[in-house]
Order: sequence, then structure tokens, then C-alpha cells
Amino acid sequence: MRISQLTLTDFRSYAHAQLTLEPGPNVLLGYNGVGKTNIAEAIGYLSTLSSHRVSQDGPLVRHGEKQAFIRADAHRGSRQARLEVEINPGRSNRARINRGNPVRATDVLGILRTVLFAPEDLELIKGSPAVRRRLLDDLAVQLRPALGRVRLDYEKVLKQRNALLKSLRHEGFTATHESTLAVWDHQLSEAGSHLLKARLEMLTALRPHTATAYGQLSGSVRTARLKYLSSLDAAGTNDEDPDVEMAAAPDTEGAPAADAGAGSPTVPGTADVSALESASREELAALMVQRLGAARREERHRAITLVGPHRDDIAFTLDEVPVKGFASHGETWSFALALRLAAYRVMVDDDPGEGAQPVLILDDVFAELDSRRRRRLAELAAEAEQLIVTAAVDDDVPASLMRNALRVESVDQISQVTVHERD
Ligand SMILES: Nc1ncnc2c1ncn2[C@@H]1O[C@H](COP(=O)(O)OP(=O)(O)O)[C@@H](O)[C@H]1O
Ligand SMILES: [Mg+2]
Repeated sequence: MRISQLTLTDFRSYAHAQLTLEPGPNVLLGYNGVGKTNIAEAIGYLSTLSSHRVSQDGPLVRHGEKQAFIRADAHRGSRQARLEVEINPGRSNRARINRGNPVRATDVLGILRTVLFAPEDLELIKGSPAVRRRLLDDLAVQLRPALGRVRLDYEKVLKQRNALLKSLRHEGFTATHESTLAVWDHQLSEAGSHLLKARLEMLTALRPHTATAYGQLSGSVRTARLKYLSSLDAAGTNDEDPDVEMAAAPDTEGAPAADAGAGSPTVPGTADVSALESASREELAALMVQRLGAARREERHRAITLVGPHRDDIAFTLDEVPVKGFASHGETWSFALALRLAAYRVMVDDDPGEGAQPVLILDDVFAELDSRRRRRLAELAAEAEQLIVTAAVDDDVPASLMRNALRVESVDQISQVTVHERD
């Protein structure tokens, strides 16, 4: 996939900007604060309707303006689509596809695929579990846009269930309350199991690609590993050993808990693989209902929902050693980057059709890497049909990527750079 023309109107610092992007590498150069990431962010937004920097749309609109527009010509092989998104903070966003009538913004999801890596991605390692959950959820939604709705449903039901638990806190718990909660358990487990199933699929798909990309980037013999930590395994606690919990839990017919208790979910060499990864969606739903039931007393006490995908996390390790808190700065960067490169490859596997590879965006990454990692990243990134790189210092970007370099001088001046031969 690639973008040819990109036009921004009242997006971030740009009143109006237009740039032409080429197939292959495009490098945006310019001083810090000049507006390079704003461009990377706009491309990402057109594909995911979310920013990697802010959770609300307000800051995306140029200060003092009411709405922003991002427009691009997206190409997939010989097919072309003009995408336009209108960002209206506080009101619904809209989109236009091929100059047609305005449609819901979510209609553009799935048309342009992108993978964006930015310094903020260090939070994947260092940040809270929510950042890691979002990695899986966002990837799942890019591959299957319909999951966006499931995700919203889950959040809505969760909110309502939590509100109910709060309101029951100071009342005597009656049979009516129990049956009301049971209804919510089912609703939560329906949406929750779809979400969990999608997440586990993403994790399973990311795992080998992350290990490969980490090895390629770092040259390390240690293996980058991913393990899903589910509140269904541990019944609301942060127990690291799901087997113990699962074996101790009451058996449910057909649910993975029973399988895990009886069989062995830890095949030698695959200790990271959760038994949940092979469970069906229905089994996950049944297990979630069961776990919610088991957590009833504690949930009533704490007045929050303790079981479900909103309580889950992913453990990242190099061999057995956690990355968070143990890895060096370089290893941490490489791990985060490996996760994004893995996401790129998962998308390619998902749609191997010609011209379907996502646009790869690397925001401000080269400055942080040593020269060996830079060279390796340049080699890996060169496989993308279109690559967008931003950098403040020209020399940080490997010469092999400098074919189309654009200098962002200011918000109203972006010029082509003539690149001279470098060593
Ligand atoms: N909504 C906005 N309205 C006007 N200016 C903005 C807005 N959001 C960000 N900016 C400006 O954009 C600049 C940052 O641009 P950015 O793309 O992050 O720079 P860099 O080139 O370092 O990546 C800052 O000067 C910031 O003040
Ligand atoms: Mg930047």
C-alpha cells in the first residue's frame, strides 16, 4: 500500500499543507517541533482513526479552529481511493471516500493499513497494562474493523456492570440482585470472549514474528517472548501460574479450565503459550461466566469487575527475564520496535495480496539506535512498499533510505532535499 498525495487542513500546526509521497522510503527531515510527527500522526489517523499521541481528538485540530481535514490518495496495487476524514471534536467525525457523500468516519477503517512506530511505544514496555492491551486490540481492529464495535460494547457493558456493583455496595444482596448480575455476567462474557479471542489470536500471530524481528534488529541470541496474562487464568489475582489456579477451579464441561486441569497446557519450550489460546470463543465465554461467579464475593466487596479482558496484560521477556525493569535502554527500544515490525508482518500474513502491505511509519526512531541497529532496521524497513521516516538529524538516517527526502522548514514550507552521496 502507499499514499501519493497527502493534504492537511487545520490539522495540528498546519493551516494547509500538501505533500507528495513516493513509493519506497520517504524521509521527513527538520528541527524538533517543526511538525514532522504531525504528518506521521495524520497518516496513522487516516488508517486507524486514532492518534498515537493523544486519546482525544481536540489537540489534533489547529488551535483556534473547529475542525481538521486529512486527505490522501491511497493506492493498493493498481486500485486507488481518495480518503478524506473530517475531525470534529465533540461531534461525530465524518469521512468521504472517492469524493462521495459524507459517511461515518468508521467506514474508512480497513482501507489504508499502516504500522506506526514512535518513541511513545516505549510505553509498551514501561507503561501500564492498558498500553499493551491496546497493542493487541488496535491490531485486531485494523485486521477486522467489525471488532471496533465489540470493543465499544464491552466497555459499555463493563461500565454499567461496575455502576451496578457500586450501587449494590450499601444494600443487602438479594436474590434479585444476584439474577440481575448474572444477566450482566452473560452480556459481559459475550463481548468479552469475542475481544479476548481476537486478542489471543493476535498474540499467537505476533509471537514468532516478534522473536524473529528482535533477533534481526539486535543480533542477540536471547529470544523475545510474549505471554498473555489473563484474569480468566488467575481469577482476578495476578498469579503467575495459571495451572495452579485452573486445576483448583471447579470443572466446567468443555471449558479450557477443565482441559488445563486434566492435560498439560505447557508443552516443553512453549511455556508462554496460555491454554486459553487454543480455546474456542464459546469456551472462553463459558469460562468467563464461571470466573465471574467465583469472584462474586470479592467483586461485591470491591465494587468493581475483576474478571475480563480489561484486567489482562502481556508479559514481555528476553528468554526468562522480564524486559520491564531488567532490559537495557537499547534492548527496550529493540523490543518495542520488534513488536511493531511483528504487527507489520502479521498484517502482511493476513492479506498477502499484491500491494496490500501496510505503510510503515518510523517516527524519530533512528536517533535512538546505535549504528548497527540502524543499519539492520533500514534493511528490514526496506521491505515495505512505502516507508515514512522522520528525523531531526540527517546523518542519523541510513543513506540507503535517503532516496526521497523532504525538509520540513516550517508549517508552510516543505521542500524536496537533494541528497548528496554519503559514506
Ligand atoms: N492543535 C495544534 N494547533 C497548533 N499547533 C500545534 C497543535 N498541536 C501541536 N502543535 C504544534 O506542533 C509542533 C509539534 O510538531 P511535531 O510534529 O510534534 O514536531 P516534530 O517535528 O518535532 O515531530 C509544536 O510546535 C506544537 O506547538
Ligand atoms: Mg517528532
